[in-house]
Amino acid sequence: MRIVFGLQVFILILFVYPANAQKGYIRNNISYPLGASVDGKLLLNNAVYRNLVAAEFNSITAENDMKMYRIHPEENRYDFTMGDSIVAFAKRNNMRVHGHTLVWFSGMPDWLKQFKGSNLKFEEQVKHHIQTVVSHYKGKIASWDVVNEYLAHESDSVRTCILQEKMGDDYLAKCFQWAHEADPDALLIYNEYGMEWSEKKLQGIIRIAMDFKKRKIPIDGLGVQFHLKIFNSNDTIVRVLRELSKTGLKIHISEFDMMVNVGENRKNVYTDSLKKVQQEKFVFVFNAYQKEVPDAQKYGITFWNVGDKDTWLRPTYKMIEWPLLFDDDYQRKAAYYAVLESLRSKK
Ligand code: XIL
Repeated sequence: MRIVFGLQVFILILFVYPANAQKGYIRNNISYPLGASVDGKLLLNNAVYRNLVAAEFNSITAENDMKMYRIHPEENRYDFTMGDSIVAFAKRNNMRVHGHTLVWFSGMPDWLKQFKGSNLKFEEQVKHHIQTVVSHYKGKIASWDVVNEYLAHESDSVRTCILQEKMGDDYLAKCFQWAHEADPDALLIYNEYGMEWSEKKLQGIIRIAMDFKKRKIPIDGLGVQFHLKIFNSNDTIVRVLRELSKTGLKIHISEFDMMVNVGENRKNVYTDSLKKVQQEKFVFVFNAYQKEVPDAQKYGITFWNVGDKDTWLRPTYKMIEWPLLFDDDYQRKAAYYAVLESLRSKK
């Protein structure tokens, strides 16, 4: 009798334990993919980073390795080495790959920035770039940020940049059409920042989305970068997700992170009270995404890299920041557990 009882407990543990362990991951408590952007070199060289990415995320974006200046460094030379290695890693681990980004005013190689040919030749170069990269990854990359940051800062008008100067205001639509020709199955996304600060920009994005639908330009989704600060208003976060969802397009929170070391709080210390505010806002964003974006339109939430020490904010803004769910040693932060608990309690 005792042996039989022991056996029952053993079998119970065998089945219940793995199920519970799986529930201990954010990604297993949401109906949409959880992503991270990664650095290809770090992924190759750091096993802790690599294992963490494989365990915690099921979607992956190259932080820089697929940008034009990396993948197309010279007019007649493409370099897919790092991009391919990220795609191979994703395949080994059953992850979705989101491509970032075919065209971006700030990610252009010198040869194209200094291009001396006619406007038409410039346009041909951009088309060739888009179609070569999309074809190379056809069937391997599920979706692309076709154009990144098309609108000007806090504005609803087109950003003045070399792309707009040479190709005209409607270059966005052209890029989408070229990408679609190269891989009709890839989902095509327009990625933007700053709609949480500027109502004008939010309205500009919505206008573009509706206009594209009317003109039958093949657009599938909107990328909402969400490089947030702890004092971004919750009402605005909700409003952005709600209004963008009304376009019917997929909504990808595409570059999520959250600065704490800002404004009057700027003390270079990650105090308990800052941690608490940050944690609550992380929870808030996950809940707002769940509630405001219809299931069929949830493309995922992607963090901009993995551990705090990998964040682009430190080198870019030359300040210490702790904007992610994992700390400098790749340990889950309290914010991770807070998000997890909140998701689990709502199931
Ligand atoms: C950033 C990377 O994180 C940095 O490593 C790089 O030096 C500059 O670009 N919006 C975007 C991303 O769409 O591509 C940017 O990534 C961050 C802002």
